[in-house]
Amino acid sequence: MIKDYKEYSLLSHNTFGIDVQAARYIDFSTEDELSALLQSGTAGESPLVIGGGSNLLFVGDYHGTVLHSSISDISIISENDEDVFLRVGSGVNWDLLVEYTVNNGWYGLENLSLIPGEVGASAVQNVGAYGVEAGDLITEIEALAIKDGAKTVFLNGDCNYGYRTSIFKREEKGKYVITYVTFNLKKSAGFRLGYGNLKERVESLGGATLANVRKAVCEIRSEKLPDPLVTGSAGSFFMNPVVPDEKAAELAEKYPAMPQYKVADGVKLSAGWLIEQCGWKDTPHERVGVYKHQALVVINRGGATGADVLAFATAVCRSVEERFGVELKMEVNVIE
Ligand code: EPU
Repeated sequence: MIKDYKEYSLLSHNTFGIDVQAARYIDFSTEDELSALLQSGTAGESPLVIGGGSNLLFVGDYHGTVLHSSISDISIISENDEDVFLRVGSGVNWDLLVEYTVNNGWYGLENLSLIPGEVGASAVQNVGAYGVEAGDLITEIEALAIKDGAKTVFLNGDCNYGYRTSIFKREEKGKYVITYVTFNLKKSAGFRLGYGNLKERVESLGGATLANVRKAVCEIRSEKLPDPLVTGSAGSFFMNPVVPDEKAAELAEKYPAMPQYKVADGVKLSAGWLIEQCGWKDTPHERVGVYKHQALVVINRGGATGADVLAFATAVCRSVEERFGVELKMEVNVIE
């Protein structure tokens, strides 16, 4: 069923807890509804498509139309002894999907437990944690073109997945609404426990099983990241910067404790560490700050506006640039 609202509050649709309104808010629950809506032109030329609002910062009221998918069916489209291909509606809550796959004994998504948001956005954002990214498991994405409602199927190779990015954030930004995402899950174990202290945590729970890996990831995330139901935030606000090898070597000499990870195109630094070193964990601030256990997470301490958050984030970036000569880029999508 289509739900169509005017002057609609987005407070419950962004995990930052920013109190802004959309001029119009339309929620659809089937692909046919979305197709008819796009063909009719009702949603305008450039609606803003949102998922769970866990990676958005609204700087002010949104004067256009916001579109939201409530497509929530999940079906197996094929399977064999080794694989399950699961087609999932874009409006399905991400963690409910992870829980469902774990309960069915299908391997692949367990490291991505407890990430806020919905399935459609996960495919745009290429959400990742503990050495796994959504794009590693996605085989295909079904989407309708905003301009005329025509359906396109993108295969994984078409999406140009990278660290927290895809073509849906670059070349094809604002052109499609995702309706379904298909994931290739496995029927036998192939855990990835190499990140941080995940392996030790899993061992302490009794060893590597799907349920234990999910539990360990949930525990670690709950310790490090704020509960979106209690503290407004959008998870990691910044991306971890990648710098050239020479720059990393220079920094390592000056700051021996700086965490560094070699990646294909340079060396990845920890934005959380850089921000903490600049003293932001200790800076009392009325409405905006960084989270005490993870400086990468900008939090709304209560009553912050989007402009407050943006001004704070800009000051954080400036300090990291001045101290380390490293540019931080925002992971959060800022909606002006
Ligand atoms: N660190 C600090 N101070 C801090 C935070 C981190 O010194 O305040 C240090 C840690 O001690 C560690 C390193 O920085 O040595 C890395 O920290 P962590 O393992 O917490 O991971 P991260 O790189 O800061 C990334 C993702 C998270 C994801 C974790 C685990 C990004 C932008 N963030 O954080 O993703 O959960 O790895 O895989 O890549 C998200 O995207 O919203 C998110 C939470």
